[in-house]
Amino acid sequence: MLLDRRGRALTTLRLSVTDRCNLRCTYCMPEAHYTWLEKPHLLSFEELARVVRLLRVQGLEKVRITGGEPLLRQELPKLVGMLAQSGVPQLAMTSNGVLLEKHAVALREAGLQRLTVSLDTLRPEVFSRLAQRSELDKVLSSLRLVSGLAFEDFKIDTVVVRGVNEEELLELVRFAGQLGAEIRFIEYMDVGGATRWEPGLVVSQEEILERLRSSYGSAQPLPGRGSAPAERFQLGNGQVVGVVASVTHPFCADCDRLRLTADGQLLLCLYARTGLDLREILRSGAGDEEVSQRIGEFWMGRQDQGAVDRTRVSQRSGYVSLEELRADPRLEMHTRGG
Ligand code: GTP
Ligand code: 5AD
Ligand code: SF4
Repeated sequence: MLLDRRGRALTTLRLSVTDRCNLRCTYCMPEAHYTWLEKPHLLSFEELARVVRLLRVQGLEKVRITGGEPLLRQELPKLVGMLAQSGVPQLAMTSNGVLLEKHAVALREAGLQRLTVSLDTLRPEVFSRLAQRSELDKVLSSLRLVSGLAFEDFKIDTVVVRGVNEEELLELVRFAGQLGAEIRFIEYMDVGGATRWEPGLVVSQEEILERLRSSYGSAQPLPGRGSAPAERFQLGNGQVVGVVASVTHPFCADCDRLRLTADGQLLLCLYARTGLDLREILRSGAGDEEVSQRIGEFWMGRQDQGAVDRTRVSQRSGYVSLEELRADPRLEMHTRGG
């Protein structure tokens, strides 16, 4: 088991397989134009599977495939099959749902066990404004299909943004309940910088719970959170919802996540400014032992607690400037696997 300098074990890998997305959610990718990662720089499926196999030996227990939108990567079910064979106990994916209706069965058959779909609103006009694309119908069809595919774990992620969807929480809870999905409400984070984040747009965990209590009577915290970003609560009707309070209650002390960008940069934190160029190491012909050693050393030097550090910043606004973002696309949330 690999421990970092704060005693946190490396147990989860968030694997971004593409920086591209087919939506332009204002909290994540608001710009019309982005500098994309270069195609030849993207790690191949074989390279990805090798990294996962080596990390598995060092104690990795969970891989979550993310993006951008992972389904924009060609032949993704093939990668899922390759990763499933590496024996990682938990294989998960986060998707925006637009292309999921087409691929969900193949993903399930390839060995994907856990699936999270992003859904911020049930109102077509709010969706179009927030995502800058009118794709709500496709997302809803995907969700209905997925709910019948018996994934071991099926969740809905909702980023709550003031003035956009905070009045819709109860409808979303009901909708998730009907689908048999666990919904998680996520505080709007100041990652990236193009999003024009400001503190007033954050709807806090306290307010989210207050809104839920006003209709469901109670929201009792459930034990056993471990290193998960979401704290889970049981509502008066028995339904369980999660809240990811990265802004008001950061969970860095338990963060067990290593991130890999699609072009092979290892990052120790969602807020990391720089990383380790794993692509260069892999493509230099390094053997398994050397690759494992370099990753291990990198993790063992980890002190990061980006979300906690952000709470100490006065006059908080976007994390990095637009100029910096344009110069380094890896600073954006969509390249580092939201
Ligand atoms: P499970 O525990 O397997 O359910 O996965 P997860 O909760 O890590 O997955 P998901 O991709 O659904 O993450 C939910 C949200 O939590 C993300 O969309 C982010 O908003 C936030 N989040 C995920 N990872 C991190 C992290 O490392 N740091 C912080 N601060 N927030 C994170
Ligand atoms: N704040 C919180 N979560 C975010 N995501 C992307 N941008 C942000 C942000 N600024 C997460 C959401 C979304 C997924 C793709 O990434 O969960 O559903
Ligand atoms: Fe982990 Fe960094 Fe997120 Fe904190 S901010 S939970 S250390 S990735």
